[in-house]
Amino acid sequence: MNVLFVCLGNICRSPLGEGILKNICEHSGLDWHIDSAGTGGWHAGESPDHRSIKVAAKHGIDIHQQSARQFKQEDFEKFDHIIAMDKSNFKDLTSLTSDPSHLAKISLMMDFDSASTYRDVPDPYYDNRFDLVFELVTNACNGFVQKFAEVPISS
Ligand code: 4NP
Repeated sequence: MNVLFVCLGNICRSPLGEGILKNICEHSGLDWHIDSAGTGGWHAGESPDHRSIKVAAKHGIDIHQQSARQFKQEDFEKFDHIIAMDKSNFKDLTSLTSDPSHLAKISLMMDFDSASTYRDVPDPYYDNRFDLVFELVTNACNGFVQKFAEVPISS
């Protein structure tokens, strides 16, 4: 299974999605390919934001080696699931294709945590809510794994 997380800049939220789901997969024996991208390309080639690196490290996850990139058309073919961090990212992604098979791959991160009152993973770039983002993305990634792993995973 190929999973792509998408946010605006690919330096704050989606790198955490990539790191958190990779970590869950390593601990659960899931051989999935996981990547992340931004709808915008302003930060292409950059490392994740130092605050994302720090909150991930606090939870034993190393994301410093990731490099930002912009979402590209081939991603619609390459990935089985394209997970948008907020409704704005979702809208930007759906505007890039009219192919029903591509549109069917796009989902919203918080749809995998139906118990949460959050529908968007908030952009922490200006307000520093990196701990909240880490918690929301962790819970939603666990929900994603519960839904799509072929073998039940204890979390
Ligand atoms: P991200 O956060 O979409 O979670 O990576 C942002 C990163 C950079 C900017 C905005 C959001 N920016 O305006 O540069």
